[in-house]
Parts: sequence; structure tokens; C-alpha cells
Amino acid sequence: ANRRKVIAGNWKMFKTVSEAEDYAIKFLEEVKDVTDLDVVLCAPFTALHALKNELEESIVHLGAQNMAWAEEGAYTGEISARMLLDVACTYVILGHSERREMFGETDQDIAKKVQQALAVGLTPIFCCGENLKLREEGKAAEWVKNQVASALSGISKDDLLRIIVAYEPIWAIGTGKTASSQDAQEMCANIRATLTELMGSASENVPILYGGSVKAENIGELMQEPDVDGALVGGASLDPLSFAKLIKNAS
Ligand code: G3H
Repeated sequence: ANRRKVIAGNWKMFKTVSEAEDYAIKFLEEVKDVTDLDVVLCAPFTALHALKNELEESIVHLGAQNMAWAEEGAYTGEISARMLLDVACTYVILGHSERREMFGETDQDIAKKVQQALAVGLTPIFCCGENLKLREEGKAAEWVKNQVASALSGISKDDLLRIIVAYEPIWAIGTGKTASSQDAQEMCANIRATLTELMGSASENVPILYGGSVKAENIGELMQEPDVDGALVGGASLDPLSFAKLIKNAS
């Protein structure tokens, strides 16, 4: 399949504006010659505008980590899709497990967010993944299949082609425990099979990323797997030099 490869960094709730600017300068210097994969930095809302100025005309794409499902209106504290476009975001992470677990986001909320992002032309990085209990009970595959189906079933086949899926087993996030490449492959293939039910063979063109303790040391092996098209990287994206190294090892 001629899927594009994507490495996205998720800074989570780290970095002030000046820290983000320093990062961008160092990072760009390291990755300026990378052409065989798409590089995305998903920064906190407050750093996006500054990053827009630093990254403009570079190979690095800008993303946010969350977004409102509503277009605009009386939604105190929320950020709209249009506001993200305005600061040059082209990607947005939606349904991250931290949003689901700590901020009560439901499959329905996430489905609406995915539709809203697509409506304005943002590329959603839709996250799914099971917790340790589900994995141990042997229910992981079914759980993830349901998450994917409930968020994406209302979306047209054409729009589904503009989505990126990130599989992140919750037990591997920030724990140092990476899923084995075989486990990652198995679940990414399961996700692709679910996408095939929704959109037919065009699912072959949807990038599916793995996330959970990805580092420069293990990215190479993960990328060997046929259904793993890249990674969503948390902790290891916080230092510009190590993240650049990870990206080079992925390409
Ligand atoms: O969005 C990123 C993931 O939650 C993975 O985080 O690389 O720190 O395990 P991590």
C-alpha cells in the first residue's frame, strides 16, 4: 500500500511559549531534510501561534491536542476548529485516552469532534485503545473495534480517507512498557479490518499509528510491521534532539 508515514509528537501539558520557540529552532535544524514521512507537533493551545511563526514554510506540521465539537458559541473554555485553522494547525488529536479517562469524553463527543474537524478541513488523529484490565480479559480487540466504529460510522467514505487513527494501549502510555511490535501489528490490522467494513478497500490508504512509550530505540522495529504506519509519541517528543533522532530512525 502507498500509505504515508506519520510521526506525531504530543507534548501534552508541557512547554510555555518561550520553551516551544526554543524547541522549534533546535528541532527544525535537525529535521529539515526529512522528506519521506510527515512530521507533526501537537502543542498546547497557548504555544500554537508562536509555533506557527517558527514553523511556517517548514516541513513540520502543526497540530492541537483537543478541540470543541461545537462550531462556535457560548462554550466557556473551549477552542473551536476554526480557531485552530487560524493558527495554522492542520492536525488535531481527538479522543486521546487522557481526555476520555480524566475529562469524561465519550465516544459520542469524540464522533462529533471528528466530524467537526473534517468539516473545516483539519486532519483528525483519532485515538483508541484498551486498558490493562480489558487486555487481560481478552476483550481488547472487541473494545477497540467498538471505539473505532462508534466514532467513525457516521462519516462518509471520502472523509474517512482524511483521517489518521492512533492505537494507544493505555497500559503502555507513559509507563515505559511498549506493546510488542507483534501486539501493535495485530491491533493495527484489527483496526484496518474495522475500517474496511466502513469504507471498503480504501482503508488501505488510512495511516494507522501506534502510541505508547515509543522511543528512538524501538521505533525502527515498530515501523517494520505492515500495518503500523507511524507513531504518536508523548514523552520522547519533549526533547527536540531525541525526537529528531526518533524521526530519523523511523524513516
Ligand atoms: O499521545 C501520546 C501517547 O499518549 C504516548 O505517550 O509516549 O509518553 O507513552 P508516551
